[in-house]
Amino acid sequence: MILERSNFMDVKQIMKELDKLPMKSEIGDLKELAQIYQLRHSGVNEIGTKLENLDEEYSMNYDHNPIHHMEERMKSVRSLVGKIQRKGYPLNMDTIHHKILDVGGIRVITNYIDDVYRVEDALTQQSDVTLIKRKDYIKDPKPSGYRSLHLVVSVPVFQSNGVFDVPIEVQLRTIGMDMWASLEHKLRYKTDVPEEKVEQHTGNLKEYASELFDIESKMQEIFRDLQE
Ligand code: GTP
Ligand code: MG
Repeated sequence: MILERSNFMDVKQIMKELDKLPMKSEIGDLKELAQIYQLRHSGVNEIGTKLENLDEEYSMNYDHNPIHHMEERMKSVRSLVGKIQRKGYPLNMDTIHHKILDVGGIRVITNYIDDVYRVEDALTQQSDVTLIKRKDYIKDPKPSGYRSLHLVVSVPVFQSNGVFDVPIEVQLRTIGMDMWASLEHKLRYKTDVPEEKVEQHTGNLKEYASELFDIESKMQEIFRDLQE
């Protein structure tokens, strides 16, 4: 399993990103923002390590790797500010502390659909992990056809100045769902595609999402049969 570790965004990097934005003076104390980023980054490291350990243990005891690979990311300051404005929250540290729970995120790509829930259970039943939010877009896909399990968990981070509970977003999806989401994301954000083409591809993609789900369910059945 491959884990892509994200880089920690320090005060200098945050300043550089903020410098490109029109509202840099509004956001408040940059040192505090950098501290939030550092804490969330530590939280991502904690959860990433837990998931790596789970995958290793599973592979040892059951001869199967539930996790195909993982990607860690820190939200850019640009999309942090964009999200706060989109949601109509006041642009201050309090909002970032309490409302923006996806500054640090991990995407877990699993081999099978069962593995999504297997990893969820194994992670959330750990005594130091608390489930804060859960949206199951596999059971209830988005209108676009998007499927994934979205969790926000909180994990304690031990620092020299105390222990802090840190929220981390975990998105779990299969290889098929991930392949679909990457292509759909490209279609959504590519600005030079003609309108009628977007419409046609959007319709097709929605159909393919459910075809992919059917195929992955059938492959899951074969895998279950072989594991027995
Ligand atoms: P935001 O983080 O601001 O988007 O709000 P939210 O956390 O309430 O939203 P949601 O639960 O919908 O999850 C948002 C994330 O899921 C996005 O940043 C995307 O990575 C992913 N996502 C959600 N819907 C879609 C979709 O239709 N297509 C693709 N490709 N990704 C999606
Ligand atoms: Mg989000």
